[in-house]
Amino acid sequence: MAQARDTKNDGFPSDFLWGCATASYQIEGSTEADGRGPSIWDRFCETPGKVYGGATGKVACDSYRNWKDDVELLRSLGVDSYRYSIAWPRIQPEGRGKPLQAGLDHYRRLADALGEEGIESAVTLYHWDLPQALEDAGGWPLRDTAYRFAEYADIVFRALGDRVGRWFTLNEPWCSAFLGYEYGEHAPGRKDRAAAYRTVHHLLLAHGLGVKAHTAEGLAAPIGIVINAMAPRPATNGAADIEAADRAADKGTALWFDPIYGRGYPERHLAAMGIAMPIEPGDMETIASPIDFVGINYYSETVVEADPSGPEGFRHVPNPPPMTEMGWSIVPEGLVRLLARIRDRWPVEAFYITENGAAFADTVEEFGRVRDRERIDYLRSHVAACKTAIDAGIPVKGYYVWSLIDNFEWAHGYSKRFGLVHVDFDSGKRNPKDSFSFYRDTIDRNKA
Ligand code: FCB
Repeated sequence: MAQARDTKNDGFPSDFLWGCATASYQIEGSTEADGRGPSIWDRFCETPGKVYGGATGKVACDSYRNWKDDVELLRSLGVDSYRYSIAWPRIQPEGRGKPLQAGLDHYRRLADALGEEGIESAVTLYHWDLPQALEDAGGWPLRDTAYRFAEYADIVFRALGDRVGRWFTLNEPWCSAFLGYEYGEHAPGRKDRAAAYRTVHHLLLAHGLGVKAHTAEGLAAPIGIVINAMAPRPATNGAADIEAADRAADKGTALWFDPIYGRGYPERHLAAMGIAMPIEPGDMETIASPIDFVGINYYSETVVEADPSGPEGFRHVPNPPPMTEMGWSIVPEGLVRLLARIRDRWPVEAFYITENGAAFADTVEEFGRVRDRERIDYLRSHVAACKTAIDAGIPVKGYYVWSLIDNFEWAHGYSKRFGLVHVDFDSGKRNPKDSFSFYRDTIDRNKA
């Protein structure tokens, strides 16, 4: 008998995990159903001038009600794993206290339906929809918010622990901290650098407390965190630009990976920013609680050059083409560089690419066809980059497309479409694009 192959057509290991991702606030709608409390994104959307076109998540893709449509799409796509997030305000409307059964039941039903199709639930506990009541009490700059997260995480572990195949504590804490509290571009829209760094610490503490709660529950499903790791490329091969790029990577890599891997905070970065972290005894041990993998969200790579006049010694240069509709350069080899950089510095056991995808201005043809050739090219080149990384000995174990469906793209409202499936935001109708067929065939070719 022929020996079983351990790789499939494109050379991926046969146990490579193929998936796609969404997040609660971006798809669910029904923001007032079943006792859900308001989140910071509901409030931010109501604030004039914050979100493009005055868009809100009130209806979004209507996935809270029409989740069966999403499961059906996932089934026909053939994914192994679906990464979705749980809306904290559906579980604890005020961010504390007794959980709402209706909220837990919703995610139980979803996980069960996925399970029936053989699709793993890969659950993100926090994808940015903080209960507004916790922001009113001080938000992430307040230490108590980390304890509230731990309580919430424990509730979810108990309720869904037997149904979830993979856990992620936080999604892209860099965005929560800096877009949310320093640049004011995301909810809650504050512009306060000191608050942003307190947020960094409390998010990491929340992550560590969440991992400890997971261990205490004795759950078998592995746990990790999702980082939008960023390591800009130097504009030239000159020593000054190379050194500048190295420094520029601190905020998007070392600020997260150093504490998670037990090395404390990167002093070079904190010194450059003039920041002292609000560390209490035991915090750094909690933050360094062992995890099973790291999720990396990758879309692009930026470029920096030396700038001795700035506090950090670098400045960004304009993004070179080709670009997506987000104005993000398309640089698949940047993913390989980023993973190699992280592998060289931190002992990450396994990587999952937890988000990768592209927004383009899709055209719907007369009979509903969306020939999104550019998105297909983008996805194909980034899947190939995963294979290049694996060949270089980097333990990339899975890949998730962002996103299953067009959805609420934060401050861009509904103006940027990332989906494999087109959504008509008036009728809620879902319509697979050509990229859906491309990804389905890619999975099919490579599945065991
Ligand atoms: C990431 C977010 C995700 C999505 C993509 C385009 O930063 O995690 O929710 O909006 O960007």
